[in-house]
Amino acid sequence: MPTDSFPLLNSPIQLGRVVFRNRMFSAPMGATDITADCCPGPRVQGFYELRAKGGAAAVTVSELVVHPETDGSHMLHLNLETPGCLAAHAFVADGIRRHGAVPSIEFSHSGQYAGTYMSDKNKKASLNQWGPSDGVRPDGRPVKGLSKEQIADIVKAYGEAAVLAKRAGYEMIMVHAGHGWLLNQFLSPYFNHRTDEYGGSLENRVRLTREVLQAVRAGVGPGFPIEIRMSGSELFDGGYGIEEGCRIAQAVEDLVDLIHVSAGSYQFGFFNTHLPMFADHGANVHLAAEIKKHVSKPVATIGALNDPAQMERILREGKADVIYMARELLADPFLPQKVAAGQEDRIVRCLRCFTCMAERPTTFTRRCAVNPLIGRELEGMEVTPAPRRKKVLVAGGGVAGLKAAITAAQRGHEVILCEKSDRTGGILKSEQAIPFKYEMYQLGLSLERQARDEGVDIRLNTPVTPEYVAAEKPDALILAVGSRPIVPPLPGIDGGNVVVVNDYYLEKDKVQDTVVVLGGGLAGCECAVHLGMQGKKVHLVEMRDTLAPDCNVRHRPILMKQIDTYVTAHTGLAGLRVTPEGLVCRDKDGNEVLVPGKTVVCAVGQRANRADVDALRRCAPFVREVGDCVRPANITKAVYEGFHAALDI
Ligand SMILES: Cc1cc2nc3c(=O)[nH]c(=O)nc-3n(C[C@H](O)[C@H](O)[C@H](O)COP(=O)(O)O)c2cc1C
Repeated sequence: MPTDSFPLLNSPIQLGRVVFRNRMFSAPMGATDITADCCPGPRVQGFYELRAKGGAAAVTVSELVVHPETDGSHMLHLNLETPGCLAAHAFVADGIRRHGAVPSIEFSHSGQYAGTYMSDKNKKASLNQWGPSDGVRPDGRPVKGLSKEQIADIVKAYGEAAVLAKRAGYEMIMVHAGHGWLLNQFLSPYFNHRTDEYGGSLENRVRLTREVLQAVRAGVGPGFPIEIRMSGSELFDGGYGIEEGCRIAQAVEDLVDLIHVSAGSYQFGFFNTHLPMFADHGANVHLAAEIKKHVSKPVATIGALNDPAQMERILREGKADVIYMARELLADPFLPQKVAAGQEDRIVRCLRCFTCMAERPTTFTRRCAVNPLIGRELEGMEVTPAPRRKKVLVAGGGVAGLKAAITAAQRGHEVILCEKSDRTGGILKSEQAIPFKYEMYQLGLSLERQARDEGVDIRLNTPVTPEYVAAEKPDALILAVGSRPIVPPLPGIDGGNVVVVNDYYLEKDKVQDTVVVLGGGLAGCECAVHLGMQGKKVHLVEMRDTLAPDCNVRHRPILMKQIDTYVTAHTGLAGLRVTPEGLVCRDKDGNEVLVPGKTVVCAVGQRANRADVDALRRCAPFVREVGDCVRPANITKAVYEGFHAALDI
């Protein structure tokens, strides 16, 4: 038996008549592969099933539109009324249940946000967006207030959907009343300006939510757990705060089995609803804790939680009864099982890079930077034993090389990984000095640990040459030899006042209180923000007109806000020379300008180590290039390529 360091996390909880095997629940995350008529496709099942396999006690399927007539929403919503789609839902629910988890489904109505994510904008641009009151959305689209007849129809639709959801095999229903969706819009004094019985007093603003919960209860009957997801506080001026959040929770607690306390509103972006890397882990827990003091029903908390010790503490201190995780269970669906088995040191941490969220608006799929299975669970990507054990040599101990080595070893191959420096981790080593990127550094450590667990023979200080390969005679050679920083040949760039961003962790004491960061790509922007957070005066210089164009669509707006707060950014400036006073640049009109700073941090990008690749690419019967040596990009690409190279051996 494993020693139980997490007795509360691992303890069951009963909600209604349903017993959940532990306190770690998988939060709603919309899938992809949803058919044009809003049914779950086969990959939806794979997407949710993985988290059930990993040990979560409940897995929440989302986002089910209850009232399509007023909720055009985006193309990847589910609709239980579509004829024939009950079977697809039954398969999804079964897929979750067969691994011992409780299948739950989230009911949502986007209200005024309907259609915001649609890629096919024109198709639904003519739909009205419906909310509590007439208004205008932040994107300028008009919002129409719902009539009482429409409200009654919406309430009825929740009840009908509940009947169907139960019939399909779901065993819990989560009613989404947070994050600024329709029910939240009614709860919020910011959105709700009605003068009838649905607006004004708190009692009136809660009325629709209560009617919805009553309709759902009538649909599912007694004993079937119903959960409300709410924002403990809307966290913006004009919205409701935690004091009203407590009263809202009290006003609905007689109708629910679990009060799930999230935070914030999409009206003002994703910062509070999906805490980014710049926020503390568990920054919203205090909201759940406060609500818990005022209600007698169990309370769930959520928000950048991925450390079992922290989660156990939250339960022990009585701040919540259930822990929900979203992104972490993409990064490591097996976290709950590892917690149960006392293998918490084997957990792979979410980087909060927003790849998962950015991928859907971009490609209509899901992806996770650290977990190549996500969104592709049914592609035959399981790590199956190789038909014949081969000798695999991996050149390079960065992310791509480590992932390839781990996967090849898991398949039963004999794997040697050679790293020319004295440590593995590659470029991730340089993230250790930036606290909000520390989990990227930890990823390297965690991959090395996994590699050792899998029996990979790691040889440090060992460059791979053609002679080395000839001596080892591998069947397969994985080239993961990475990239090196580009250092532009500017006068003064080799001076003592210049630090290359990759070496910042080694030379951070050299960085003075005024800094010029040269290069406004992702690495430069994040380093500039970090230095600004440390109280330094930071100028960021970028030649192009845009900062961090390589950054994904979800992370970028949040990063830009940090830049606005901590950094003075200059675009359209080309660096000319480094002087003791700073960086002399040329502006677009050809004028020389001095951007002042005692230290210059050089962050102009990476160049693939192609010469090393070229020397080795014909040295073994099977050779595959992976990661930055192919094209410097990001962790997502490195992990994916490393994984697949190993599956192909
Ligand atoms: C990829 C992705 C999809 C999401 N989809 C939904 C959704 O369909 N419904 C919903 O209520 N919340 C959705 N969320 C929000 C999560 O449920 C959760 O509230 C948020 O990610 C914060 O939790 P975390 O810090 O553990 O990721 C989604 C989050 C992610 C990352």
